[in-house]
Amino acid sequence: MILEMKNISKSFGAVQALKDVSFSVGSKEIHGLLGENGAGKTTLMNVLAGTFGPDAGTIGIDGNIVEGMTPKKAAELKIRFIHQELNLCNDLTVFQNMFLGEEYTRQWWMVDRKRELEHAQKVLNSMNSGIDAHTLVAELDTAQKQMVEIARALLFSSELIIMDEPTTALNNREIEKLFSIMQRLKEEGVSFIYISHKMPEIFRICDRYTVLRDGSFIRSGLIKDINEHQATELLIGKSFVQAHIKDGIAASITDEVVLTAKDLSGSSFSNVSFELHRGEILVCTGLQGSGTDELATSLFGASTLKGGTVETAAGPLAMHDIKGVMRRGIAMVPRNRKERGILPDLSIRNNNSLAFFVARHKSLFVDKNEEKRRFDASQKRLGIKVGSDMDVITSLSGGNQQKVILSRWLELDADVYIMDNPTQGIDVGAKFSIYKLIVELASQGKGVIVFTSEYPEIHQLADRCLVLYKGMPAAVLSRDEITEVAIMEYSTGTRGEVLN
Ligand SMILES: Nc1ncnc2c1ncn2[C@@H]1O[C@H](COP(=O)(O)OP(=O)(O)OP(=O)(O)O)[C@@H](O)[C@H]1O
Ligand SMILES: [Mg+2]
Repeated sequence: MILEMKNISKSFGAVQALKDVSFSVGSKEIHGLLGENGAGKTTLMNVLAGTFGPDAGTIGIDGNIVEGMTPKKAAELKIRFIHQELNLCNDLTVFQNMFLGEEYTRQWWMVDRKRELEHAQKVLNSMNSGIDAHTLVAELDTAQKQMVEIARALLFSSELIIMDEPTTALNNREIEKLFSIMQRLKEEGVSFIYISHKMPEIFRICDRYTVLRDGSFIRSGLIKDINEHQATELLIGKSFVQAHIKDGIAASITDEVVLTAKDLSGSSFSNVSFELHRGEILVCTGLQGSGTDELATSLFGASTLKGGTVETAAGPLAMHDIKGVMRRGIAMVPRNRKERGILPDLSIRNNNSLAFFVARHKSLFVDKNEEKRRFDASQKRLGIKVGSDMDVITSLSGGNQQKVILSRWLELDADVYIMDNPTQGIDVGAKFSIYKLIVELASQGKGVIVFTSEYPEIHQLADRCLVLYKGMPAAVLSRDEITEVAIMEYSTGTRGEVLN
């Protein structure tokens, strides 16, 4: 398939999301679509997939202009869109979800379940997903749900598959699996449009790139003709020096302990103990399945601890009472905005206020002006791009939603921040400002625990790094012991005895 989008414009009220953008994809090509948060990537793909029409411009497929694109037409043209947000029904099984709206029918309206089930399972197996097509989607974790979304696009023969940040919930092994499926399909003639904020992925898998900035087309070309640094400069529109964020900032760690974890165990980890000091950033890392996910939620009382205690200076926390935990000065930025972060029906401003409202609010009524003041301050601090703060949160681009989630918790002015993959879906430039913010929090005397599996993040932030392997602590590395190799070896069990 050869795609040619020409002079596309699209506005939402006062926001012009796309300005005269032209974009083309050749056959058997993996095309990386790059741009900062809010640049217009998802909007351009929505126009292509017929979610809504453009205000101006044309879509050409194999030389023919397609008038009035709709999702149905796009499907007939063999275009599949895997959305940035998950779109599955938790109450249905995996195969029912995969065939939703496109059921195989036997006679009249009878759905041919057997055939659906067989086909779905075949695709899931070809992905080595380990997912049983009978499973209820509610029982899957986020990574598995993402795999089901991808499997759904592979069910019907497609010629162009759009992937909007497909890897935010996947670990490295799963990403490799995805890439080998993409390579295979490419050889069979499928083209891809691939959106990601992770430069290494773009450079690993894409043949060509297009950069959007502020809704405008900036440049297209071959990936082999640029490097990651140049790509970053193209998308932020100025030179970019990736300095080390902690340079020039004196370590702020004090002797005072703000949080003590003693012998914690859950269903996927055990024997975890540490002390978090005022002013310290402790990074916790490990491969998927190492227990870090559950440890993160347990520390906040959102999953049940099987054993052990978490204490602040004022004594042990009642871990079954999240509100109580929050009131004791502990804030948590959860992973997976897609599933846990946002309340989609509420406005941006109300989403921003949630934590403050639960933990700090004293009077019966919300003071609208005060709420607005708080939001305005956060917006400036994090550079959140919004039209009106009373729009629903889902009108924001993915990365800007994530910034609202962060800001929600920063407002709390807690003593301890637990941040689970805080920069997921955030563009390169903004990531850097979030690292800065985290380092600032520590220098103001807060204790911060960051859960992440991205090495650059560990390198930028960690005063100490706790590595889990198979649910057990494998190492606690001090700042000068942290290297990419050391982290990899401890997290894969190639180095070190399990600590105790
Ligand atoms: N349904 C909508 N209603 C109002 N504004 C919208 C809507 N969809 C997108 N926008 C606005 O259009 C602009 C472009 O958003 P878009 O989602 O395309 O960005 P993006 O490049 O995908 O960013 P990200 O990397 O953060 O996902 C943003 O300013 C966004 O707020
Ligand atoms: Mg987007």
